[in-house]
Amino acid sequence: MMGIAKRQFDAVVVGAGGSGLRAALQLSEANLKVAVLSKVFPTRSHTVAAQGGVSASLGNEEPDNWHWHMYDTVKGSDYLGDQDAIEYMCRKAPEVVVELEHYGMPFDRLDNGKIYQRPFGGHTSNYGERAVKRACAAADRTGHAMLHTLYQRNVRAHTQFFVEWMALDLIRNSQGDVLGVIALEMETGEVMMFQAKSTLLATGGAGRIYSASTNAFINTGDGLGMAARAGIPLEDMEFWQFHPTGVAGAGVLITEGVRGEGGFLLNKNGERFMERYAPTVKDLASRDVVSRAMATEIKEGRGAGKDGEFILLKLDHLGADVIDKRLPGIREIAKKFANVDPVKDPIPVVPTCHYQMGGIPTNVQGQVLAANALGKEVIVKGLYAAGECACVSVHGANRLGTNSLLDLLVFGKSAGEQVVKDIAADVASLPDLPSDYADKTMARLARLDSSKDGESVNEVGSEMRRTMQLHCGVFRFPDGLADGVEKMLKVGERVKSTFIKDKSKVFNTARIEAIELDNLVEVAMATMISAHARTESRGAHDRSDHPDRDDVNWMKHTLWFKENNRLEYKPVQLKPMTVESFEPKARVY
Ligand code: FUM
Repeated sequence: MMGIAKRQFDAVVVGAGGSGLRAALQLSEANLKVAVLSKVFPTRSHTVAAQGGVSASLGNEEPDNWHWHMYDTVKGSDYLGDQDAIEYMCRKAPEVVVELEHYGMPFDRLDNGKIYQRPFGGHTSNYGERAVKRACAAADRTGHAMLHTLYQRNVRAHTQFFVEWMALDLIRNSQGDVLGVIALEMETGEVMMFQAKSTLLATGGAGRIYSASTNAFINTGDGLGMAARAGIPLEDMEFWQFHPTGVAGAGVLITEGVRGEGGFLLNKNGERFMERYAPTVKDLASRDVVSRAMATEIKEGRGAGKDGEFILLKLDHLGADVIDKRLPGIREIAKKFANVDPVKDPIPVVPTCHYQMGGIPTNVQGQVLAANALGKEVIVKGLYAAGECACVSVHGANRLGTNSLLDLLVFGKSAGEQVVKDIAADVASLPDLPSDYADKTMARLARLDSSKDGESVNEVGSEMRRTMQLHCGVFRFPDGLADGVEKMLKVGERVKSTFIKDKSKVFNTARIEAIELDNLVEVAMATMISAHARTESRGAHDRSDHPDRDDVNWMKHTLWFKENNRLEYKPVQLKPMTVESFEPKARVY
């Protein structure tokens, strides 16, 4: 094997979005030697695009409490979320948000100086009675404010960043322990082993498996791909959230905060159709419900536009003052991407892929879980995951808006705390690397560098995105899923022989895109196979042939393994940490 350079750290964090930065802060403040790898400058990570808010039952504007938040999250998850983890997250929410406030996060303020809160889909008071103001917001740029706050706090704590480094593979030894990652410096093409006692994956989502996505181009599921190749299962990957309001034709996010501030959806007849689908909270029902309602309106010929292809989001009645104060970014986006000024005209919107509910299985401390040789689920020593790439599971089959920024704060912090504890308890020096540790990764790179012809990265990627969009979208059909599996198996073969003309090392973005496609295909494959197998409708997974939720047979989490596309299942944790369970019921809003 070719020798590659090595560096040693206490901990390596892969990804510098919200969860990576929150975890890294915990580590740096504990004086650990930590390396944070990021494909982009940290403040350009996708968390920057989060708009509407972060949920916490602060009760600044009206009564609220964590138990109502927990109820909403369990119900929103269509009862697939683990209730112990959901309790943990909702109880911790006020603490992590106030902590962020103390770090200097520029939240909007009420006249009395407290953090401004707005309503958001699926968040209610008194167990579903009416919408509640729970989303703590910095106008419609909450993620932007959060990411900058966390980055600055990390600079203060002397976190060491490796910017424009892409992690390629996890390294495990024969006991299955994770010993670090191999990564590629994009500027030079240099490959390096980052050896560490703890490796924390915080690589975000993979929404780029779909053609229409609110996700940044960097969201290619790198952590999930690495985990899958290292033999770690991916959990509940059939559940993808379609955000109701992506700009039609462009995919750019229009925050649910628009509806939180009083905007609403109209069909071509000017009808406020959500009154029919969710009579109590209407446009503030949870996202799966609203997206399905919109897709139904379009399917049944009530969509607006020349071909009836979109829905209208009306907010002009809020007035220019409210729009400019609370939703300034939305006005800009609508003008640039939809060519409308929302102060006067409605915005054309369609449900657009936004968030993956599944991911790398973890417990609430961010420790990654995988089966041992006896098939028993155990903690993988040295590996942690947090944020969108992880599945704790708090979102189950459908996430509530604003619970993702909360998830990355709560579990970024708890994973960081666990790493600090584990490193303190482990006085041994770094374990030896297996002699062949870099072989597979180097062979993957060598194949790309030496191949004379093969498949176009763009064409294979387009086929994957088309397949996902057509066969695994808001509504899913048995034949479509079966065809989707066939097509994805072919994509899985084609991706093994991708070819790039440019063999140079310095800032070779073609090479990066080829490597990213490997990761995207792992995620898309996991999604299609898991969706095909789940013969029920739950949350964001809606099957025409099995229209109802089936708690008898499917109250369980899916685990997809790369090896032979094997599926296993594990039970949902219905028992919370300290309170009574919320028993599964029909979901009405
Ligand atoms: O609509 C939004 O502002 C998105 C929020 C979220 O996905 O949590």
